[in-house]
Amino acid sequence: MKNKIYIAPSILSADLLKLEEQVNLVAKNGADLIHVDVMDGHFVPNLTFGPNMVEALKRIVDIPLDVHLMITNPELHIQDYARAGADILTVHQEVCRHLHRTIQQIHQEGMKAGVSLNPETPVSLIGDIIEDVELVLIMSVNPGFGGQKFIPHALDKLKEVEKMAEKAGKQIMIEVDGGINPDTAKQAIENGANVLVVGNAIFKQPDIVAALNAIKKAVLH
Ligand code: DX5
Ligand code: ZN
Repeated sequence: MKNKIYIAPSILSADLLKLEEQVNLVAKNGADLIHVDVMDGHFVPNLTFGPNMVEALKRIVDIPLDVHLMITNPELHIQDYARAGADILTVHQEVCRHLHRTIQQIHQEGMKAGVSLNPETPVSLIGDIIEDVELVLIMSVNPGFGGQKFIPHALDKLKEVEKMAEKAGKQIMIEVDGGINPDTAKQAIENGANVLVVGNAIFKQPDIVAALNAIKKAVLH
């Protein structure tokens, strides 16, 4: 494989009572990013973590924190996540009335900026912003919960993002999130993804390190 592939375990599926231990375990065994799913109970029907979680994780790991905001009005919270130590901040296209301004604000706060698309949101809607972001996140499940089944149409969208980025002459992180296991990981990489978010297929497995290695084995040559 030509480009680096990043594996981003999602703490949504971790055991919160063993979070420090489990996050350190994946960080020490080759995880590239820690994916933090922020949900507000409005944009998605679930409620999870806030900046205090990011701040706590920052104290225990030194790999970058990849924060996925599944919240309405994300522009109101950018500074909080920057102060907490987020390295990449991703917002959903569906909730940003002024997406370009929101991306600018994320950059002003010193973070990498990502834009995410729900399963039904067309890739064409980010054609005029792709040059300004470092990451595009394609949701391969409906956002809100771990452990759902991969939606195969996400593969077409990954390809489309890859083509769009190539056309723009821009090297970006193309992230896929939802239902990733060794099989779907391989398909996603073959279709242009280079960042794999993995929740259940790592943290809900009896041997977390073996599960992480199985994902790596499926995609790294
Ligand atoms: C879903 C979240 C995902 C979730 C993925 O809304 O954005 O990051 O943790 O979990 P799995 O890998 O179990 O589908
Ligand atoms: Zn996510």
